[in-house]
Amino acid sequence: MSESAAALDITDLVFRYASGVADVLRGVNLRIDHGEFVALIGQNGAGKTTLAKHFNGLLKPSSGSVRVMGRDTRAAPVADLARAVGYVYQNPDHQIFAQRVRAEAAFGPRNLGLSPSEVEQRVERALALVGLREHADDFAFSLGRGQRQKLAVASVLAMEPRILVVDEPTTGLDQAGARGILDLLSTWNVEGRTIVVITHDMTLVAERIPRTVVVNDGLILADGPTRHVLTDASLLRKAYLRPPQVTRVAQRLGDLGVAPDVLTVAELYRQIAARMGPS
Ligand SMILES: Nc1ncnc2c1ncn2[C@@H]1O[C@H](COP(=O)(O)OP(=O)(O)OP(=O)(O)O)[C@@H](O)[C@H]1O
Ligand SMILES: [Mg+2]
Repeated sequence: MSESAAALDITDLVFRYASGVADVLRGVNLRIDHGEFVALIGQNGAGKTTLAKHFNGLLKPSSGSVRVMGRDTRAAPVADLARAVGYVYQNPDHQIFAQRVRAEAAFGPRNLGLSPSEVEQRVERALALVGLREHADDFAFSLGRGQRQKLAVASVLAMEPRILVVDEPTTGLDQAGARGILDLLSTWNVEGRTIVVITHDMTLVAERIPRTVVVNDGLILADGPTRHVLTDASLLRKAYLRPPQVTRVAQRLGDLGVAPDVLTVAELYRQIAARMGPS
């Protein structure tokens, strides 16, 4: 795998789960460079998870190609793909199977053939990052939903992949838990890793993720800076999505001179304050 190639390079990807049934992905083209932080959004059943499972070779194209750091996933050994791309499942319970928290987090790195001391270091670091260090000796299934979500992230972080794909990391979490996970992913991205997040949480995308890709009915409907994509109400409507609430408020305030591409509450506040003059 080559550092100079794109992190992910997908060309004309078509995929169906079985022959004779409809194509779920119908010709996807997508390139993600190293160090990018990308949101994949789209309504239920649009094909987000199916697309993401191609990023680490869990699924292979029916036609077209998926290249991870230059290597075609049909040719690359599974172990190389697992080292390069970490994938956190939509449901943490599909991923967690070890007994204790520490053992769960150690499973991935141990399979990479690292020395026991390296495994231990990585596990401690990953558990500390997600705030689960004091739960290291607990049973994984005794954790709450939010903590299991964090454990699922930690077990993938411990493998220190260059590319991290996280499928709906905030589902079932409260706002603080969701922000905690996003903080973690942001830190990881600032350190130079490529992150792809699948989410239905438009507010988190607006606040944190610079590039947004809209998946609709097995195709990429839009791909660009989040400020362009998430503020384009008519485009989003085609994917049965809506701009974040605060953007919709800003757009209704257009007559007062508020810009239509507001993404956060802080931005809206500044726009209104600027128009009201000193208080
Ligand atoms: N294992 C499978 N076998 C057959 N069909 C599947 C399978 N998994 C998903 N599908 C179908 O493929 C389509 C896309 O599903 P996918 O899970 O990729 O969507 P999604 O965008 O991730 O949706 P959600 O937001 O609900 O997670 C759906 O029509 C779904 O029913
Ligand atoms: Mg999904």
